[in-house]
Amino acid sequence: MARILVTSALPYINGIKHLGNLVGSQLPSDVYARYMRARGHEVMYICATDEHGTPAELAAAKAGVPVAEFCAGMWQVQKDLADGFGLSFDYFGRSSSARNREITQHLAAALGRNGLIEEVSEKQVYSHADGRYLPDRYIEGTCPNCGDENARGDQCENCTKQLDPTDLINPRSAISGSTDLEVRETKHLYLRQSAMRETLDKWIDSQKGWPVLTTSIAKKWLHDGDGLRDRGITRDLDWGVPVQFDGAPWSGMEGKVFYVWFDAPIEYIGATAEWADATGAGDAAWERWWRTDKGANDVRYVQFMGKDNVPFHTLSFPATMIGSAEPWKLVDFIKSYNWLTYEGGKFSTSQGRGIFMDQALDIFPSDYWRWWLLSNAPESSDSDFTWQSFQGGINKDLADVLGNFVSRVTKFCRSKFGETVPEGGTYGKAEAAVTDEIAARLRAYQDNMEAIELRKAAADLRAIWVAGNEYLQAAAPWSVFKQSPEDAAATVRFALNLIRLYGVLSAPFIPDASAAILSAMNAKDAGWPEDLNAALSALPAGHAFSTPDVLFAKIPDERREELEARFAGA
Ligand code: 2FM
Ligand code: ZN
Repeated sequence: MARILVTSALPYINGIKHLGNLVGSQLPSDVYARYMRARGHEVMYICATDEHGTPAELAAAKAGVPVAEFCAGMWQVQKDLADGFGLSFDYFGRSSSARNREITQHLAAALGRNGLIEEVSEKQVYSHADGRYLPDRYIEGTCPNCGDENARGDQCENCTKQLDPTDLINPRSAISGSTDLEVRETKHLYLRQSAMRETLDKWIDSQKGWPVLTTSIAKKWLHDGDGLRDRGITRDLDWGVPVQFDGAPWSGMEGKVFYVWFDAPIEYIGATAEWADATGAGDAAWERWWRTDKGANDVRYVQFMGKDNVPFHTLSFPATMIGSAEPWKLVDFIKSYNWLTYEGGKFSTSQGRGIFMDQALDIFPSDYWRWWLLSNAPESSDSDFTWQSFQGGINKDLADVLGNFVSRVTKFCRSKFGETVPEGGTYGKAEAAVTDEIAARLRAYQDNMEAIELRKAAADLRAIWVAGNEYLQAAAPWSVFKQSPEDAAATVRFALNLIRLYGVLSAPFIPDASAAILSAMNAKDAGWPEDLNAALSALPAGHAFSTPDVLFAKIPDERREELEARFAGA
């Protein structure tokens, strides 16, 4: 038995996430955590809301509530949605927690002691009307290069030129529109990442088998252009982890907070400590996942995230952990995802384009979404959500293949033999052949799950469902029954055992349907089929079952058209 630590990138608190966010970290990490638990491993699966930073403050201001209140409310909303999607976190924490504050301030102190933090004086734009410093992207004005009037202080999107806020002609606050701006000198702390370039380079080189997407992004940031730059880790904001070092002030940093990307990944640790507090497990219980001097040496740590998060997880966060010179557990494998697009374009919150988590659950059960999103995960390239493809995936894979198999077998058995596994007849070549085929597919399924190739694993699972259907179609117990009820009984007995097997194997992808299947088969405690032959005779003659309700309703064309129109956006 191994010990596996799984973290999902922390969803930002500023609003409800769309399906692209969901498939980029939370959903695949959940499948992996569920699978590893099913194989008997000890899993700690952690997520949390990422609550600090300007976007949180702005979202709160827009909602007209204090930021702490906004975050508490939105945490609950996100938690409920996570539950709705069956995300099986061991703990869903908050980056604004006392634990994260304490660990963030502790790591900053360690970095400071090791000479990895330096003070830098910067010029920053202060907005009198807004009563705050403005981050570069919240300053707008006319581009000096192309004349576009909506250039941002970090970049002009029209001509792509990288800008400094002071380059803009007629600068204004993107928050209030005010032009009453002033450039002020302010002091910030920088993490000397450049001093750690070689260490990080070696560390990345020593990682075996990381996905190309992950390594290529990390290497690009290490070596391209000016390479790994020192980064400001403090901000002039109210909402965040106060800049203190193990609780002691750093002169000149009063009233400042750590940059959201500094404290967010630390919350992976913070949330594990929150879990220990919430469950009364005690400090040793979280430390054995995170401190190599306290038992974390034998932990395998896997992170899941969208590709935009990769630089922070391959470089900045490891720089914090390694730079502390303390025995923190570092990540072993970083699984990153490309983008999900919506009907050929981007998901857009502002234009209401695409599907958001709350809307999705209002329309269809979570298993429908889980299945389509995971079997089409943007794993080797971007993938495109279309209603057509979604309808096809649900109707063909779930309804026609899996659902239909379960329904035909249980209904036929009920009508001819009653709701118990029938006795009589013997297994022959057909059963041996389909067992062999499933054994091979199951090996592939397990290998792909271990390698976190979830899209391929979904295809393996589907092939296992198809094999059962083909077996049933060829054995045709409904025609055989008249001549030879014994042979029909053997087929049905075998098929009922296949249903139980499907309940177990499908659980990481479609947990609700799997639970319904196993409950109908009266086999809730069924474990992973370590021995396939044994698993396929687990339900003996005489075992009672019930015929489940329709597992997956087909999506008719009219419904698809209606949804296409409703979600087309403004
Ligand atoms: O990209 C995002 O949505 C970030 N909130 C992810 C943070 S992951 C971790 F570092 F906290
Ligand atoms: Zn421009």
